[in-house]
Amino acid sequence: MAESMRGMKRTHRCTEVTTANIGETVTLMGWVQKSRNKGGIIFVDLRDRTGIMQLIFENGDIDEAGFEKATRLRSEFVIAVTGVVEARSGAVNTNLKTGEIEIRVNTLRVLAEAETPPFPIEENSKTKEELRLKYRFLDLRRPDIQRNLMMRSQISTLTRQFMANEGFLEIETPMLTKSTPEGARDYLVPSRIHPGNFYALPQSPQLFKQLLMCSGYDRYIQIVRCFRDEDLRADRQPEFTQIDMELSFVDENDVMDVNERLLAYLFKEVLDVEVPLPIQRMPWQEAMDRFGSDKPDLRFGMELHDVSAVVKDCEFVVFKNALENGGSVRGINAKGQGSMPRKKIDKLVDFAKDYGAKGLAYVAIQEDGTLKSSFGKFMKEEEMNALVQAMDGQPGDLLLFAADKNKVVWDVLGALRLELARQMDLLDNSVYRFVWITEFPLLEWSEEENRFKAMHHPFTMPMEEDLQYIDTDPGRVRAKAYDIVLNGTEIGGGSVRIHQNDIQEKMFEALGFTKEKAYEQFGFLLTAFKYGVPPHAGLAYGLDRLVMLMAKQDSIRDVIAFPKVKDASCLMSEAPNVVDEKQLEELGIQIRED
Ligand code: AMO
Ligand code: AMP
Repeated sequence: MAESMRGMKRTHRCTEVTTANIGETVTLMGWVQKSRNKGGIIFVDLRDRTGIMQLIFENGDIDEAGFEKATRLRSEFVIAVTGVVEARSGAVNTNLKTGEIEIRVNTLRVLAEAETPPFPIEENSKTKEELRLKYRFLDLRRPDIQRNLMMRSQISTLTRQFMANEGFLEIETPMLTKSTPEGARDYLVPSRIHPGNFYALPQSPQLFKQLLMCSGYDRYIQIVRCFRDEDLRADRQPEFTQIDMELSFVDENDVMDVNERLLAYLFKEVLDVEVPLPIQRMPWQEAMDRFGSDKPDLRFGMELHDVSAVVKDCEFVVFKNALENGGSVRGINAKGQGSMPRKKIDKLVDFAKDYGAKGLAYVAIQEDGTLKSSFGKFMKEEEMNALVQAMDGQPGDLLLFAADKNKVVWDVLGALRLELARQMDLLDNSVYRFVWITEFPLLEWSEEENRFKAMHHPFTMPMEEDLQYIDTDPGRVRAKAYDIVLNGTEIGGGSVRIHQNDIQEKMFEALGFTKEKAYEQFGFLLTAFKYGVPPHAGLAYGLDRLVMLMAKQDSIRDVIAFPKVKDASCLMSEAPNVVDEKQLEELGIQIRED
């Protein structure tokens, strides 16, 4: 039985009705959250995207047929009601925004009935995520998810407004395009008209936004979908959204300035949080040395200490070998964890091994000052004391050491630092700590490909003072690149671009690109550069990550309406899927059997 809403027009959303409306007649529409029949009187919680309103059905206010209909209401029925706003007859519900009022209904229409949902539509659902994602359209009815998506919408709207005021133009770039250089695998789309040819979905609008600068658009912004075929994690989806921007006639300070003001504006408007400006800047090398990470979480200390010099003469082979092989020995001090049981320490060792460590050496300082250590027998007493002192070890502390190549040591201790902070409950998600990471290495050595690769992308400008090393010691060259990091998550990144032909050629050389290969991949950009290219720079945020942090969620899946799961599939639509033989034929594609 589905009735029409003809003649009824919604006057308010649920929580838009307030005590100021007492005595007025209102019409509301929404979903039945729950219904309680107390004999002659029925209470119904009506839900829409703003919240809940209590409805009262009582014989006499509503005619007999209407009352009878109300007795049959069940969860998730869609209804329209007209009634009078009253002060609550029963106890005021302080948990509800509308807890002081209720609607005495005189007209009820059932607009749609509903089957019993496979899980309750409620806040902080305990239902497994797989089931929720299979029925995402129901999951999306839950108030917490609705708040996340409403916040996301607000953030996009405010961003557009702010950037428009700053003179940015919103310009769309193609989705069916050629490969872009962000370093992940491309999603390919076969062409029917050009059999055997493929479009690539953009990993970012990088090349196009640089072309727009060549074309004089000056300040560009786009809130844009990007596609990357990479391994998924809590903060990574195969399709995600960037707030993407590019500016002409600017240097890195101009880009950082406008973005700091954008962030401060968003946090103030959305969360009423003041972001102190300017945001701290930290060179990459310092971030690695102090935090073992290029996206350091600055909400807590537990910094890394390089103790290589302290242990350089000791006989412990693990330390000795690491130093002889050009690596380092570094440690962190987990304050107050000195009485951690052996089993738990062993778990930390396993955790470290997951990040590439061969082991994890430790010293647990007992309350009486004695030391329990996994490598004490290899150390002289004075060596051990010097080590403890270098780590600022106090009674009750746990010192953990990794010895290896720098990269491994950083990875291991950086991850361990975060794991310990989780265990020690040091991560307060109502605190927002921003930091710019600057002076990234321009190039990083790829063991796999046995060549240097661009750490950011091949159009990132080297720092002038390092240009002299680009031929002789390319690994030493730093880039005019910057990432914006919030609470240990990289929420955005960008760089000043190369606009000088000679520097670009040197860069391609360092990357082992021939001129032909460079033109094959990026020809249209390089050609455009010949016709007058302004100095330019830009940045892109991961919008999903920004919203995730602002909404205090642990995964970007919670701020995306229809996300994919770990294996990049959609549990609801069952994408990806096989297609008709006829479609494949048209595309000239045959599926290999092996
Ligand atoms: P980058 O590759 O650093 O830079 O991407 C910018 C930001 O996008 C977010 N991000 C992702 N979010 C969710 N899922 C993913 N798979 C994913 N990959 C990246 C991150 C990241 O900081 N064109 C350059 C920007 C520029 O130089 O202007 C670019 O795309 O938050
Ligand atoms: P072993 O002599 O191999 O038993 O090692 C003694 C201690 O050193 C153990 O606690 C190991 O976990 C630790 N260890 C082994 N390799 C490393 C390493 N690369 N870095 C730090 N500690 C290590």
